[in-house]
Amino acid sequence: MRVVLLGPPGAGKGTQAQILEENYELMHISTGDIFRQNIKNETALGKKVKAYLAAGQLVPDELTIDLIWDRLDQADCDKGYLLDGFPRTIVQAEALNDGLATRGKKLDYVINIRVDNEVLIRRLAGRRVCPECGATYHVDVKPPKVGEICDVCGTTVIQRTDDKIETVRDRLQVYETQTAPLIDFYEKQGNLITVDGSMPVDEVTAAIQNAIH
Ligand code: AP5
Repeated sequence: MRVVLLGPPGAGKGTQAQILEENYELMHISTGDIFRQNIKNETALGKKVKAYLAAGQLVPDELTIDLIWDRLDQADCDKGYLLDGFPRTIVQAEALNDGLATRGKKLDYVINIRVDNEVLIRRLAGRRVCPECGATYHVDVKPPKVGEICDVCGTTVIQRTDDKIETVRDRLQVYETQTAPLIDFYEKQGNLITVDGSMPVDEVTAAIQNAIH
């Protein structure tokens, strides 16, 4: 099964992907995580994309499309995957369709997670992430069990630099202009399912699983 998780920053794409990857044994592919890992490791790609992420702007399409196909063509994606944060522009969505068609595959579902902007801003302001293993927390809704220590690997959790309020506003604007048009794109394609992402995490998961079944 191949699934796209679509939604604005803070909608819960990563949170849901971490749950669904276990339930369905799919690979969770997050372009944001791949970029952040490269920045952390100071790779050539990391150096190219660092400024875009810091400013809340999208990385150029060509770079992102090459990167995603390098990853999706690896053997561990053969059984299927959850795409979190890709595609984000019409150009990327068309490249995904074309690339899948070339490989004799198709997209099964596009899950559009809808959440209002005030909720998104509260979520992103309170988000904390583990810089080591990528686990995601929220200071109110899902704090680590002990202080600011990651439950999974014991590293001190941090706030993402692009979760500062000024950058969050820019990211929401970028979403509206460049990514929201994908809702229409996939609606016309006939595989869009919209869920209310403002519900508690387990209810959002249930809504997605019902839609998939
Ligand atoms: P990326 O890492 O993809 O960030 P994003 O899309 O902005 O998404 P987020 O990770 O912020 O949010 P999320 O929806 O995953 O929410 P989460 O589950 O964490 O991209 C970062 C940057 O990389 C981009 O700005 C761009 O520069 C670049 N990039 C990435 N992909 C690209 C592409 N394809 N093309 C070009 N550039 C690209 O949840 C948020 C918080 O809310 C958490 O604290 C969580 O615990 C909490 N929460 C989640 N669900 C709920 C719920 N139901 N109720 C209460 N709290 C909840």
